[in-house]
Amino acid sequence: MLRSVFLAAAGSSRLGRLVSSASLSRTVARHFVPGDDVDGALAAARELADDGLSITLDHLASETLTADEAKATRDEYVTLLGRLAAAGLTPAAEVSVKLSALGQRIDEKMAAEYAEAVCAAAAEAGTSVTLDAEDHTTTDSTLEILTALRKDYPSTGAVLQAYLRRTEGDCRELATPGSRVRLCKGAYAEPESVAFQDALDIDKSFVRCLNILMSGDGYPMVATHDPRLIAIAEDRARWFDRSAEEFEFQMLYGMRTEEQARLAAGGNIVRVYLPYGTQWYGYLMRRLAERPSTATLFGRALADRK
Ligand code: FDA
Repeated sequence: MLRSVFLAAAGSSRLGRLVSSASLSRTVARHFVPGDDVDGALAAARELADDGLSITLDHLASETLTADEAKATRDEYVTLLGRLAAAGLTPAAEVSVKLSALGQRIDEKMAAEYAEAVCAAAAEAGTSVTLDAEDHTTTDSTLEILTALRKDYPSTGAVLQAYLRRTEGDCRELATPGSRVRLCKGAYAEPESVAFQDALDIDKSFVRCLNILMSGDGYPMVATHDPRLIAIAEDRARWFDRSAEEFEFQMLYGMRTEEQARLAAGGNIVRVYLPYGTQWYGYLMRRLAERPSTATLFGRALADRK
């Protein structure tokens, strides 16, 4: 129930403007989105790298887009990648890109060209790009663009969402040599026709997908905070004889930081997803939808202001 309220709120631009303009909201958002600009993102990335963690940076863009905004997002990533390389943060840091932010909904060809420019900048910077997964209406287009990008930039990462009924099949397609695949549960409100709705069904699908990726020839990136799924991933890595360099864990910035440290101390590669920018409203609402107890952060921030 609360999940659908927060997911509906994520799509409301009116509410977004209201919440984003309140300084209290920014205080809370900073827990998950530490920087407003490249400088802030670089500072947070540096701290994570110093702690032995890998990073993937995501520039948060507005949901409704014009062609000019898409171009600005491309330029932002190109600048970011140059700055990461200059700061010596590559290859520990890579970038995550939402094709919608590059204009996928207004002009698919343009988005593919912009994604290619970002991949070229990443290659120049000595790192790679992962294409985030968005709602199911974009999955086919995103995977097609991924296939095209991988011809010249084979390290371009995919994201597959375990809640989608199609994902086991996509895992089979993508469990090939050199193929980087992030597996997550999925963060959007999806209809029953395409997505499992029950938490247990989603977890079961996650494990089936994990089995395919861990037993396959690609490079699995296990993106979850769920202790049970993390334990199963550790188990499968042992079972399928994968060394610590042959897969990685991924978690969101500000979430389960002790667990991130524990896994890294155990010799695992742990990559932290680090979003930055001023358009943090939709991202924050999706985090609240997953974990309504996060809303207590609002309470704490409110108490701190008194
Ligand atoms: P979930 O939120 O279901 O929690 C399961 C259990 O884990 C909880 O019951 C609790 O026990 C424990 N837990 C979770 N959070 C905790 C916390 N903060 N503290 C303590 N315990 C906690 N989605 C998408 O659609 N497209 C994408 O491209 C991405 N990309 C992405 C990258 C990375 C690195 C991550 C980690 C996630 C994504 N996601 C995503 C989001 C993903 O789909 C999913 O919505 C969230 O990760 C929440 O699901 P979890 O598997 O983390 O556990």
